Amino acid sequence: MSTIVSPSLLSADFGNLDRDIEMLNSSKADWIHLDVMDGVFVPNISLGFPVMQAVAAKSVKPLDVHLMIVNPEKFIDRFAKMGVYMLNVHYEACTHLHKVIHEIKEKGMKAAVTLNPSTPVCVLEDIVNDVDMVLLMTVNPGFGGQKFIEHSIEKVARLRRLIQETGSEALIEVDGGVNQETAPRLVSAGANVLVAGNSVFNSPDPKSIIERFKQL
Ligand code: DX5
Ligand code: ZN
Repeated sequence: MSTIVSPSLLSADFGNLDRDIEMLNSSKADWIHLDVMDGVFVPNISLGFPVMQAVAAKSVKPLDVHLMIVNPEKFIDRFAKMGVYMLNVHYEACTHLHKVIHEIKEKGMKAAVTLNPSTPVCVLEDIVNDVDMVLLMTVNPGFGGQKFIEHSIEKVARLRRLIQETGSEALIEVDGGVNQETAPRLVSAGANVLVAGNSVFNSPDPKSIIERFKQL
């Protein structure tokens, strides 16, 4: 299976969102990654439903939505109605994670659990067979353009082992500081899905960066 690439719209030019979505539509990107922040779970606020609905209407790529919000269960239905493909909820934001994951699937979406950098992979032992994907944060969530946390490479390898041991079919997605230097090492450690904001949108040729990530 070739590497899945999910460019993060957080680094797009929001004054020219149409143009940037068109660029992604005509690129080799597999998904579009949408970062939703509430100013409570993370110290930043990003985009809300009106903007996401506009993106959903324009995008020909499946939407990979990363919820950095408290009480994500409140909005499962709205994301399902928007036609979201993959819904990521943070482990740290869900007291009843098993219930939330199954509600997401019952609404017809793929379900992913996300871990902050300090949350160990071992907390996934009893949920890894229920999820379609695990998203490992490779920076602290909240902002684009941050420095990659080096320890993440070992963490991806540990998650790959857990997935093999349990027979889970979960994909491994990584998010934060993914660039041409870190991406090959993440893929070698076992990552299948690369989220990239800064390295795609701040490149003079975003489409060729996306293609390079896909070839890893
Ligand atoms: C950060 C977001 C990321 C962000 C990644 O909280 O979850 O998706 O856009 O940005 P880069 O690729 O610039 O580190
Ligand atoms: Zn993200």
